[in-house]
Amino acid sequence: MKFLGLNEIREKYLSFFEEKGHLRMGSFSLVPQNDKSLLLINAGMAPLKPYFTGQEKPPRTRVTTCQKCIRTGDIENVGKTSRHGTFFEMLGNFSFGDYFKEEVIPWAWEFVTEVLEIPVERLYVSVYKEDDEAYKIWNEKVGVSSDRIVRLGKEDNFWEIGVGPCGPCSEIYFDRGEEYGCGSPDCAPGCDCDRFVEFWNLVFTQFDKDEAGNYNPLPNPNIDTGAGLERVACIMQNVTSIFDVDTVKAIRDHVCDIAKVEYLKEFKKDVSIRVITDHMRAVTFMASDGILPSNEGRGYVFRRLLRRAVRHGKLLGINRLFLADLAATVIETSKNAYPELEEKKDYILKVLSVEEQRFNETIDQGLEILKNYIDELKATNQTVLSGEKCFKLYDTYGFPIDLTKEILAEEGFTLDEESFMNEMEAQRERARAAREETTYMGSEESIYTQLNKDWTTQFEGYNTLVVSDAVIRAIIINNDFVNTAQTNQEVSIVVDRTPFYAESGGQVGDKGIIKTDNGTVEITDCVKVIGNNFAHIGKVINGTISVEEKAYLEVNKTNRMATARNHSATHLLQKALRDIVGNHVEQAGSHVSPERLRFDFVHFAPLSQEEIQKIEQEVNENVFENLPINICETDIEEARKMGAMALFGEKYGKTVRVVNMGDHSIELCGGTHLSNTAGIGTFKIISESGVAAGIRRIEALTGQAALDYYRQQERYVKEAAAVLKTTPDGILKRIESLMTEAKENQKEIEKLRAKMAGEAVQDVLSGKIDVNGVSLLTARFDELDMNGLRNMGDNLKNKIGSGVIVLATGKDNKVNFVVMATDDAVKKGAHAGNLIREIAKVAGGSGGGRPNMAQAGGKEVAKIDEALAKAVEILKTQIQ
Ligand code: ALA
Repeated sequence: MKFLGLNEIREKYLSFFEEKGHLRMGSFSLVPQNDKSLLLINAGMAPLKPYFTGQEKPPRTRVTTCQKCIRTGDIENVGKTSRHGTFFEMLGNFSFGDYFKEEVIPWAWEFVTEVLEIPVERLYVSVYKEDDEAYKIWNEKVGVSSDRIVRLGKEDNFWEIGVGPCGPCSEIYFDRGEEYGCGSPDCAPGCDCDRFVEFWNLVFTQFDKDEAGNYNPLPNPNIDTGAGLERVACIMQNVTSIFDVDTVKAIRDHVCDIAKVEYLKEFKKDVSIRVITDHMRAVTFMASDGILPSNEGRGYVFRRLLRRAVRHGKLLGINRLFLADLAATVIETSKNAYPELEEKKDYILKVLSVEEQRFNETIDQGLEILKNYIDELKATNQTVLSGEKCFKLYDTYGFPIDLTKEILAEEGFTLDEESFMNEMEAQRERARAAREETTYMGSEESIYTQLNKDWTTQFEGYNTLVVSDAVIRAIIINNDFVNTAQTNQEVSIVVDRTPFYAESGGQVGDKGIIKTDNGTVEITDCVKVIGNNFAHIGKVINGTISVEEKAYLEVNKTNRMATARNHSATHLLQKALRDIVGNHVEQAGSHVSPERLRFDFVHFAPLSQEEIQKIEQEVNENVFENLPINICETDIEEARKMGAMALFGEKYGKTVRVVNMGDHSIELCGGTHLSNTAGIGTFKIISESGVAAGIRRIEALTGQAALDYYRQQERYVKEAAAVLKTTPDGILKRIESLMTEAKENQKEIEKLRAKMAGEAVQDVLSGKIDVNGVSLLTARFDELDMNGLRNMGDNLKNKIGSGVIVLATGKDNKVNFVVMATDDAVKKGAHAGNLIREIAKVAGGSGGGRPNMAQAGGKEVAKIDEALAKAVEILKTQIQ
C-alpha cells in the first residue's frame, strides 16, 4: 500500500468531499458553544448539533471538516498502551437533511478504495442488525460480498454520545492480518482483539436523544461520518500505534531527544514518553482555544493533562522547563490545518511555560510529602490514602487527584475518592457562599421566561438614537407583569423595537427616555433577556405608561458618545498591547462605560512604566491620525481573511460584524463605535494592575473624562505651587531646596540637642552627692526613651569615674529607670539590681538586674521624684 502522511490524508479527504458538493469548514474550537452537556468537543459532529436538530440553519446542507477532539475517559490507559490517547482528529462529512445512505455509503467506499487505495480484500463492513437498507446498499450497490458484511447489535452499531443527535451506524474495518488475531473461530469485525481495526463510522442520524433518555425522531434524516485521522494514518503508514504516525512520532522523537532516552527500550520509560507525547498535543490545542489552567471544568482538565506531562518529564529525568519546546513541535506539525496554532504561538508557549513553572515550584515538595504518606501507609499496613491527605496535596501542592491516584497505583495503593470529593465539595461551598447571587437589575431572570416565545426585540440603535413608533409589550414591576405603571414606580419595559444598546460584550446598556402619550420613563440601563428581548430598566418620572401603548424611545446622546469613545479606544488599546507587549496578549474581559474603560488581558508580568507610556502614545497617535472607523457585516471566514481579531471560543454566527479602524485595528465586535478615531479626543491610562494569575488590567479614560482628569492633576499642581509660593514649573526646584533646607535644619537640631545633652550632663554631674564615700547621681530626663536613658547612663558613668547613677524617664503613665554602678562602687557594696527593685516599687513597678547595671519600669509618673529620693536611702544601706 502507498504511504500517506497524516497531513496528506486530511487534505485528500477534505478535497474529496468538497468535490462532492460539501462546504469545507475549519475545525471548531475545542470549547463547546451553548452546549452544557459537554466539557470539550469529543466528535466531529459535536459542534454541529444545532444543525442536526434544526435549531440553526447550516451554511450549507453538506459540510466537511477535520475536527480537533479530546476524550479523557480513558486517561488512565494513556501511555500504558500504544493505542490510547486523549487528543485526536476526526474527519467528517455531514448531511443536514440532504443526502442519506444511498449516497454516503458508495462515497465512503470510493474514498477508501480509490483515493487511499486500500485493497478490497483487507476491508470488512458492519451494519446495525436491523438495517437491511444499509446491508443492501453495501452488498448490491457497492458490491461488497456478503461474507464481508457483519450485522452487529446496539453496543457496536448504534452511535450516541451523551445527549443529542444519534442513530444506527455502519462501520468499515481494516483487516491487519491473521497474525494480529486472537485465534478464536468467532474472530470477526467487532471482536475485541487487534485484528480488525474500525476506522470509519457512518452514522445515520435519525434521532435526537433528550436528557430524559427519549429518542425523538429528527425532522430529516442526516449523515454524520467520523473517521479517526490517526487510525487511518496508522493503516496508510503500516504501523499499529498512533505514536508511530509521522506527525505524532515527530513529537515522540522530540521527547526522547530532550530526555536523552530511547523509545522501546524500557516499558516504564515508554509509558512516560507516550503520556507526554499525547498530553502535549492536547494542551497545545487547548491553549490555542483560550483555555487557561484552573481548578474548574475544562481548565482543570487542561491542568491535569499538563501537570501529568510535567511529572512524567521528571520520571524521565528531565530537569528543565520543556513544555514550550515540545509545543513548538506540535505547532510545526499541525499549523497548516490549524492556523490558530501559528497565530497564537507566542501566547500558547507562554501559557504552558507559566503553568509548568508554577507546578515546578511545588511538585518536588508534593512528591516528597506523598512519599512520606506512602511510607506511613506501608508502616501501618494500610492501602488507602485518606481523602483529607489527597486534598492537601491538591490544594497546597497542586496535585490533580488522578496524578496522586496514578502515583499511588504505581506502588499498589489507592485513595479514598469519596472523602476527597467531600473535601472538594466543602471548598466549593465556601466559594459559593462568598459569591453573590446575580439578578437582572432587581428582577430575577426567571420572570422573563414568561414572555411570549415569539417575541424578540429588534435593535435599531446602530444607525439611530431614536425610534418613534415602538410598542410597549410588557411592563414588569417587582417581578410581576403589570398593565400600567405610575409616576415614581421602578419598571422594566420590553418593547418590539429599540435604539437602546443592551449590555453585552463588556459595553454597558444605554440610558435615555421612553415616552408615551401619557407618561415618561427615565431609562438607566438596558439588558438582554431571554429570546433576545431587551429589558429597559428605569423609573416613571411623570404620568402613567401602559402595555400596548405606542412609545417614543430616545437614547441619551452624550452618554452614548462617551461610551463609544471608550469602546473605540478599547480596540486601539488591544492593538497597541499586541504591538508593544507581544502577540500573546489576548482579551480576557472588558468593561466599557461612559465614565471609563477597563481591559483585562492575558499577560504574565506587570507592565513597566515605559511600556505603559508607549501603549498610551500609540493609541493617541491613532487618535491624531483621524483613522476612519468602518463597520461591515460579513462571514467569519472573510473576517479572518481581513485579519480580524476574534475572541477565543466566541460563537460567531453566520454573519459577523467587523469593526475596522483604518486597517490598523480590525476586530469582531457587536458594540457601538465612533465613526473616526479622532472623536476619542485623548486617551489616558490611569492604572495597571493584576487581577488573577496571568491576567492584567488596564483602566483608562478618554474625551471629557480624560480632560477632567488632566484638569484635576493640574489643580493639584497649582495648589501645590501656591502653597510653595512658586509657579508650577518651579515646584520641583522649590521642593528640592526645601528638602535641602530641612536637612540642614535637622543637622542643626541634632547639633543643638547634643549640646543640650552635654549641658545636662554637666548639670547632673554638679548635683553629685556623697553616700558613705560613694558618689551618687540621680536625674530625670522625661524627653528620653529607654535607649536614650541607657546612653545617658553610659555617658555619665564615663564622666563620673566612680560611683552610682540612677536615671528615670516618665511619660504617659510609663516610667523607666536605669541604674548603673562602676566596678569599684560595686566592690564597696553597691548593687544596681537591688537598688532598682526598691525604687521601682515606689513608682508602681518592678525590675532588677546585675550589680553593675539594671533597668526597670513603672506606672506612676508622679512618683518619680520620690523614687529618685529613695535611691539615697537604699544606697546608704548597701554601703556600710
Ligand atoms: N459521530 C461519530 C463518531 O464519533 C461519527 O464516531
